[in-house]
Amino acid sequence: MKSPPFHAIFRPLTTGVAALLLLPPGCGLGYTPPPAPTSPALTATEQARLVRGHAIHQAKCATCHAFVDPSGYSERELRERIFPVMARKSELDPAARQAVLDYLIAVRQP
Ligand code: HEC
Repeated sequence: MKSPPFHAIFRPLTTGVAALLLLPPGCGLGYTPPPAPTSPALTATEQARLVRGHAIHQAKCATCHAFVDPSGYSERELRERIFPVMARKSELDPAARQAVLDYLIAVRQP
């Protein structure tokens, strides 16, 4: 019996590896950013900021990678280690930074 050509085995393998590399770091399969949560405890300004944070996340952060679930990080880790780097990468102004950070913290599941 003739064995299958090398590329017939190899190609599906490389395609699989390439697909894995496209996944964002620390992110489960197909996770999409949840909408800004609403709560009666929030003022109208705070609520509007969360909605804006969600929109900015879609427009800026999502240009590089899919939504990375903030639940995987402590609030402190997000604020101090990750977010400053990502906000710089996204060239966010101070108001936009605050909106996205508030949004991420609001959608974080403790
Ligand atoms: C210019 C591309 C780029 C933009 C814009 C960007 N990121 Fe990232 N992000 C990366 C890369 C590359 C990594 C993985 C390596 C690293 O941590 O730098 C990453 C990693 C992450 C991680 C995982 C960090 C860790 O250490 O586990 C989170 C969370 C994240 N990004 C959130 C965001 C958020 C929120 C925004 C928007 C404010 C954003 N990113 C914008 C490129 C980007």
